[in-house]
Amino acid sequence: MKSSLTWTAVALAAAIQSCTAQTYTECNPMEETCSANTGLASWSFTTDFTSGDDAFDSWNITSGSVPSTSLGAEFTINEQGDAPTIETDFYIFFGYLEVKMRASNGTGIVSTAIMESDDLDEIDWEQVSTFNTEIQSNYFGKGNTTSYDRATTITVDTPEDTFHTYGISWTSEKTEWYVDGTLVRTLNYADAVDGTNYPQTPMRVRIGIWAGGDPDNSEGTIEWAGGETDYTQAPFTMYLESVSITNYNPAESYTYTDTTGSYDSISASNSTSGSTTSSSSSSTDTTSSTSRSVAASSSTPGFSDTTSSGAASGSASATSSATPSASPFVGGSSKLLFAHTEGFWMGLLAAVGVAML
Ligand SMILES: *[C@@H]1O[C@H](CO)[C@@H](O)[C@H](O)[C@H]1NC(C)=O
Ligand SMILES: *[C@@H]1O[C@H](CO)[C@@H](O)[C@H](O)[C@H]1NC(C)=O
Ligand SMILES: *[C@@H]1O[C@H](CO)[C@@H](O)[C@H](O)[C@H]1NC(C)=O
Ligand SMILES: *[C@@H]1O[C@H](CO)[C@@H](O)[C@H](O)[C@H]1NC(C)=O
Repeated sequence: MKSSLTWTAVALAAAIQSCTAQTYTECNPMEETCSANTGLASWSFTTDFTSGDDAFDSWNITSGSVPSTSLGAEFTINEQGDAPTIETDFYIFFGYLEVKMRASNGTGIVSTAIMESDDLDEIDWEQVSTFNTEIQSNYFGKGNTTSYDRATTITVDTPEDTFHTYGISWTSEKTEWYVDGTLVRTLNYADAVDGTNYPQTPMRVRIGIWAGGDPDNSEGTIEWAGGETDYTQAPFTMYLESVSITNYNPAESYTYTDTTGSYDSISASNSTSGSTTSSSSSSTDTTSSTSRSVAASSSTPGFSDTTSSGAASGSASATSSATPSASPFVGGSSKLLFAHTEGFWMGLLAAVGVAML
């Protein structure tokens, strides 16, 4: 962004960009025919973000600049509007994600590691810097934001001073959140509105920070973020040491064969055996042995051995279009920008909501 632009203009431009690149999707396969998702063709993928610029192979920096440092990838908010974010240039279809990171300090800064699909299924880790004793887990199915009871708070020892590993094990049967190898939450398929709201479509990994406490955000968001961010206290920095990803259905691409958004509607092209290991940088042991065993034990590859999907209504509720601005829990770094342009967004979201019907 050019510094000569006014903040409003920056926010608006960024919001439009975020609409497609962050929480929203360029093409929602539940509404239209979209090109296939590029898959991770190997079983596993590891990045050591201390290893220099090559670490970002297979990652796209979608906002800001994110250098490699001796502590890992550095995500810094220096001023209002900063929200550095990276995402994988591939999707996985069920799998295990583990990030080793140290969350940002300050007030109201949100350090996030999420997975999100093109039809807005989402599984989140979100650490709010105001509370240096906890992290939140959350999920969304098909962009449904009509209830706010999906988030849980998990106690963690000084997540802003200490590197911890945060894991998400994701199968068609259940999603599990792990902290330092310890299971801290389980979401079963049936628990999410009989599976309708269960995250189950190919996702990419997205990691970044944003200011939930930005003074221009909605009151609800600032409250959730534990107060207003004081930019004179900047920099606020999150460090991401490493990421380890296992893809339980390695394939060159994934296609939605209908508009249900259910996992059994996803076709994987050129599925591979998954025995290979690729790494965007060194394949050193950046993951703990604990987490490796977690990944292995939860691996039940494939997705044919479960309950049939809740193929019920594939359409998002119209009411969801009326409420997102009240939700501090929608994942991604667009929330800040969202709040800046609420009128614009309400109109846009209403349009999206209508289009979804
Ligand atoms: C990542 O960036 C490259 C180069 O800018 C672009 O061609 C590609 O479409 C991006 N991938 C994703 C998944 O956005
Ligand atoms: C946050 O930590 C950085 C060093 O990592 C420090 O420079 C900054 O003053 C800290 N900010 C606050 C508000 O504690
Ligand atoms: C599948 O693999 C074949 C042979 O390697 C290749 O020609 C084809 O383009 C691949 N298809 C897709 C969808 O990637
Ligand atoms: C959205 O979620 C709520 C509960 O969280 C549920 O009652 C509603 O049916 C869901 N809407 C759709 C379209 O699945």
